[in-house]
Amino acid sequence: MSPPPSRIQRVQHVGLKVHDIEVAIAFYRDVLGFRVSDRYNPGDNPYGPHAICFMRCGNLHHAVSLVHFSKETEISSRPEMMLSPEVGLHHVAFEVGSKKELEDWANYIRAQGLELAMEPVVHSPANPEGDGTMGENRAFYFKDPSGNGIEIFCDMAEMDEDTNRVNDKWFRDRLERDGHAGEAADPPPAWKPGVSSMADAKERFGKK
Ligand SMILES: [Fe+2]
Repeated sequence: MSPPPSRIQRVQHVGLKVHDIEVAIAFYRDVLGFRVSDRYNPGDNPYGPHAICFMRCGNLHHAVSLVHFSKETEISSRPEMMLSPEVGLHHVAFEVGSKKELEDWANYIRAQGLELAMEPVVHSPANPEGDGTMGENRAFYFKDPSGNGIEIFCDMAEMDEDTNRVNDKWFRDRLERDGHAGEAADPPPAWKPGVSSMADAKERFGKK
C-alpha cells in the first residue's frame, strides 16, 4: 500500500446528528459558549432535506455542525453516509494543508478502493467554484470501514468576530491562491438570527 500523500494536520470539526436542533443550538451556545456562523432551514441544503447549524468556538467558520434528523424520517438522499436517522456522529473532518494536498488525498482514497460519498466541492455561495453552501472549505467525503463519515478538507473560512462574516482578506487571498482574481467575488453576507443563510441564495448568487 502506498503511503498517504501528505500528513493530516489536525482534527478540525465534527458533524453531529441531533433530533432537536433548537435544544442542541441552545446547549452549544449557552452552555459551551459557541457562536452561530450560519444556519440552513430544512429544504435549503442542496445535499439533503435536513436543517444544519454551523457553530464555532474559535475564529474558523465551524467547529461543530449540527445536522437535524427527525426520529421518524428515513432520509433517502445522498450522500449515503448521512442516511441513518440515529443521533450521533455525522462526520469528523480532518484538515490538510492545501488544494493540491486535498486533490492528492482524493486520488489516494480512490486508489484504496474506497467510494467517495461526495466528490471534492467548495462549500461556498460566492466563490466561483462554489456549490452554493456555506463554510468556504474545499472538501470531499467518504466512510471509514465502520461506516463513520469522514471529511478531508482545506481552507475553512476565517470569521470576523465583529461582523460575524467571512474575513474579507482571507476570502480574497484564498481566491488568488486558487487562481481567481481577488475581486472575483465578495464574501457571503453575515447570517442574521431567524434567517436561513441560504434562504435567498438563488437570488443573491444566481446559482443552485
Ligand atoms: Fe464538515
